[in-house]
Amino acid sequence: MSPYETSCSVFPEEVIELFTWITRPEQHGDIAEIRAVNVAAFPGEDEADLVEALRSDPQAWVDGLSIVATDASGAVVGHALLTRCSVGGEAALALAPCAVLPGYQGTGAGSAAIRAGLDAAKQRGENLVVVLGHADFYPRFGFTAASGFGVTAPFEVPDDSFLALALDPNQDTPSGEIKYATAFGV
Ligand SMILES: CC(C)(COP(=O)(O)OP(=O)(O)OC[C@H]1O[C@@H](n2cnc3c(N)ncnc32)[C@H](O)[C@@H]1OP(=O)(O)O)[C@@H](O)C(=O)NCCC(=O)NCCS
Repeated sequence: MSPYETSCSVFPEEVIELFTWITRPEQHGDIAEIRAVNVAAFPGEDEADLVEALRSDPQAWVDGLSIVATDASGAVVGHALLTRCSVGGEAALALAPCAVLPGYQGTGAGSAAIRAGLDAAKQRGENLVVVLGHADFYPRFGFTAASGFGVTAPFEVPDDSFLALALDPNQDTPSGEIKYATAFGV
C-alpha cells in the first residue's frame, strides 16, 4: 500500500508541512517507537503492553492494520491498531488502542492513522469495526452506537461510548456479543 498524506488545516500555510502526517502500516523497525507513543499517550504502560500482546497473537493480529502516522522525518508520532475480534461468532475488527505523542495531540495525527486503518481494513474486505472510546471523537469517522448494529458488550458500557461502523454499508453486519482478543482481558 502506498502511503498517503493528510494535513491539518487550522495552521497557517507556512507551518502546515509541520503537520502533514504520513500514514503507513507498521514495519518491524517501528515497534519501539509504537511502544513509546503508547507509553507517552496513556497514564501507564497497559496499552503499550496490550499492543505487544496483540502483535504476538496470530488470532488477533491482522497484518497491515497497525498504522503509524509519521512526521516528514519518519518519526512515529501516532498509532492506530485494528485487531480481530468476533461479533456473534463472526469476524469483525476492534479499533484499539489509538495513541498520539502528547505534544502532537490535536494536530490530526490520530485521525490520519485511524482513517488509514479504516481504509486498509476496507481494502481487505473487512466490514464491521467496533470501538470503545471517546463519544466526541469517533463519530467523526462514521461510528455510531454499536447497539444500532445489535452489537453488545460483555461489560457495562454507556451507549455513546461503544460504537460501530460498517465499512461497506451495503453488506450485512453480524450482530451479537463482541468477543475481544484474549489480550484485552475481557
Ligand atoms: C485520542 C487521540 C488518539 C486523538 O488523536 P489526535 O491526533 O490528538 O486527534 P486529532 O488531532 O486527529 O483530532 C482532534 C480532535 O480529537 C479530539 N480529541 C482528542 N482527544 C480527545 C479525547 N480524549 N476525548 C475526546 N475528544 C478528543 C479533539 O477534541 C479534537 O476535536 P475537534 O477536531 O472537534 O477539535 C489522542 O489525542 C491521544 O492519544 N489521546 C490520549 C490517549 C487516548 O485517549 N486514546 C484514545 C483511547 S484508545
